[in-house]
Amino acid sequence: MKNVILIGFMGTGKTSTGKMLASKLGCAFMDMDQKIEEEAGMRIPEIFAQQGEDYFRQLERGLVERLSARRNAVISTGGGTVKNPANVASFKKSGIIICLSASVDAVLERTMRHGTRPVLDRADQGDRRKAVEMLMEERKDLYKQADFTIDTSELSPLQVVETIVRYLKTRGVLHA
Ligand code: S3P
Repeated sequence: MKNVILIGFMGTGKTSTGKMLASKLGCAFMDMDQKIEEEAGMRIPEIFAQQGEDYFRQLERGLVERLSARRNAVISTGGGTVKNPANVASFKKSGIIICLSASVDAVLERTMRHGTRPVLDRADQGDRRKAVEMLMEERKDLYKQADFTIDTSELSPLQVVETIVRYLKTRGVLHA
């Protein structure tokens, strides 16, 4: 099977959907943020604080290269992985890209806690909604590079997984 790569803004459900999708398909699941944290021996906010965002993006790039060399995996990316066009190109070669989207309200609800998402915390000058809106607008064209997009705002994780499975069948990635 080609890899199935989940991209999308923070709080759109990439990790929970990816985990559930991989178990349904009986294939490996790779969560990029988790893998980066394991390899660095640090949480992402610490990497940003101690080494800076550029260093984090380098770790991300290296991991995309390694993950793109394999097949049969569901890969959940970080919200900013698609900022590097080389990452999108690697993913396009190795698999099918699915974007999870969500309304500003849904993202706000899911990312309320400060201290875990440095990019959002940095953009948040006292108005979290404005920060989400601004970052979403800035990135919207990057997420449009996906083969297929699902708005997860009103869907349960199971419904998102079922929608992805149906799409993969229409694309012949999975057999009907
Ligand atoms: C980031 C999103 C995060 C994580 C890092 C940077 C971003 O992942 O990779 O904090 O730039 O949008 P999630 O989308 O899983 O929160």
